[in-house]
Amino acid sequence: AAIEKGGFDHFMIKEIHEQPQTIYDCLRGRLNAAEGTIKMGGVDNNIDKLLNANRIIVVACGTSWHAGLVAEYLFEELCRIPVEVEYASEFRYRNPVILTGDVIIAVSQSGETADTLVALENAKEQGAFIFGVVNAVGSSIARISHAGAYTHSGPEIGVASTKAFTGQLAVLTMMALKVAKAKGTISELRYVELIRELDAIPGKVAEILKDTTAIQKIAEKYKDASDFLYLGRGYNFPVALEGALKLKEISYIHAEGYPAAEMKHGPIALVDETLPVVFVATKDRFYEKIVSNVQEIKARRGQVICVATEGDTVIPGMSNDVVYVPDADEIVGAMLSVVPMQVLSYYIGTYRGIDVDKPRNLAKSVTVE
Ligand code: G6P
Repeated sequence: AAIEKGGFDHFMIKEIHEQPQTIYDCLRGRLNAAEGTIKMGGVDNNIDKLLNANRIIVVACGTSWHAGLVAEYLFEELCRIPVEVEYASEFRYRNPVILTGDVIIAVSQSGETADTLVALENAKEQGAFIFGVVNAVGSSIARISHAGAYTHSGPEIGVASTKAFTGQLAVLTMMALKVAKAKGTISELRYVELIRELDAIPGKVAEILKDTTAIQKIAEKYKDASDFLYLGRGYNFPVALEGALKLKEISYIHAEGYPAAEMKHGPIALVDETLPVVFVATKDRFYEKIVSNVQEIKARRGQVICVATEGDTVIPGMSNDVVYVPDADEIVGAMLSVVPMQVLSYYIGTYRGIDVDKPRNLAKSVTVE
């Protein structure tokens, strides 16, 4: 078992550290930064379906649903296609309206999640075009999809999804860029710039993972907290949700993720000197806004932990603890800012003595509804 874990104590931390390689594997053979091109068979062969999509509906569960939320921002911004992101379990039972020209993007690591599978079967019967973003090759969801793109993240053993999530984001970003290019909703300059940004992600993830002692210290400091709040805006809002989910799953600490501005409509009532609040506060177009959200939490004496962009001089002065990620365009930034979240949860879980690879009550793949 020690050999299988490649010298790591758990599969989860091994899989976290595999991400520079797994994201690279996902991009390899598809993204060509030198030529400024992206090749994806499943997209190229069905480009008319995606170009003519009146609407994209992302159907998923759990962490994959969070990847779907990022896709909503990506496809709306880059491709100007309206996107709905649905929990498969709700979508399948509410008699949803499926219109001709609807494209469903199914996101699933295992390809076997029962709710997702049945939701797709129903939508397929009603005429929707199904595009699968799946990790497990030959899985049920991969097979019932009309087309798809594998994430190539390799087998994920830890129950809490990590490398599959960044693989999903890599695929969804490439897809959105391809569709935007074909539709003409992105300039050539921006397209090439974002290809380069994507190409740089594996190296930047490696940089984050080179030394995680700062995150381990934060984990030790806050391991006995009973609640956590995670806040982010824009592309980092789904990252905040994912951070909170990771913490719940493997530390059993109650955590909530919220859009940072929405905190005023409820969660701010929870803030006192005992509450750790994790901000995803990287330098993107919402930076000034998030800085003022941090101030609001500080003013109420919350414990502020920030994920900030390297070189930021403002955030450190306002935070109790900071971890840094390399600078990146916000379109690709979630693949970086989620990594400290994964590492933080891992160490909090292990400090609390939890079997992080097999947390209680959870299943790697929920194949019964
Ligand atoms: C379970 C797993 C999660 C996963 C979710 C969706 O809850 O524990 O890690 O995100 O199922 O699984 P899928 O295989 O469809 O991505």
